[in-house]
Amino acid sequence: MISVSELPMRTSDQLAQTFKRQGYVVLRRDEIPLLAAQWSKLQSILEQMDYVKVVGGDTGDAHSVWVGRFVNDVEKPQSLHALSELLLEILMNEEMHAFFGQLIGEYPLCVRRCQANRLFLKDFIGYHVDQDTTPDYTATAVFQFSEQFEGGEFVLYHPQSGELVVELPKYSVLVMRGDIPHEVMPVRNGVRQTLACFFSTNFGATRKPRSEIKTVSNALPY
Ligand SMILES: [Fe+2]
Repeated sequence: MISVSELPMRTSDQLAQTFKRQGYVVLRRDEIPLLAAQWSKLQSILEQMDYVKVVGGDTGDAHSVWVGRFVNDVEKPQSLHALSELLLEILMNEEMHAFFGQLIGEYPLCVRRCQANRLFLKDFIGYHVDQDTTPDYTATAVFQFSEQFEGGEFVLYHPQSGELVVELPKYSVLVMRGDIPHEVMPVRNGVRQTLACFFSTNFGATRKPRSEIKTVSNALPY
């Protein structure tokens, strides 16, 4: 288990070096340029969001997850919800854009896809590689909004280090390259709420257009 909670706070240069060396980095709350009020606003947007149940991914992999889609890039990046603008105003404000640009080593960045993922009992996200959907996904940021859940571990299958279980405390953010396989284990108790943001240097047409993902339900299980 990788734990970042005991590490001293790192500078943005150190974070960028870690990302370059490892291909991923877990950012602590105090290492991200988001104020408490901005985290709260993001959380309230996720609570107001509309979710649909998705089983099976777009690359033949199995999932069972409730998804709230803000932005998707079936053919090109497109806002899919009235709340997207408000969300992106926070996620991609000037300071955040510069921060992620420095971290990933690419600037400017486009958010090609952005979705809230909500996992209830036994929900999971199966093994997949983000770039199998489209090579446009340079890096993905996963923002953690929950803490009272069991299971739901984020597992990276790193080309050098092998299987890594990544600890993601509330208000931490995992940033990883789009070519690293990963999965989220089944939730055993509680609700796991994250926001996944797919960054790209491509602002134009999707290099691997695809059909819309099938949903099985649009009513949350409560
Ligand atoms: Fe993913």
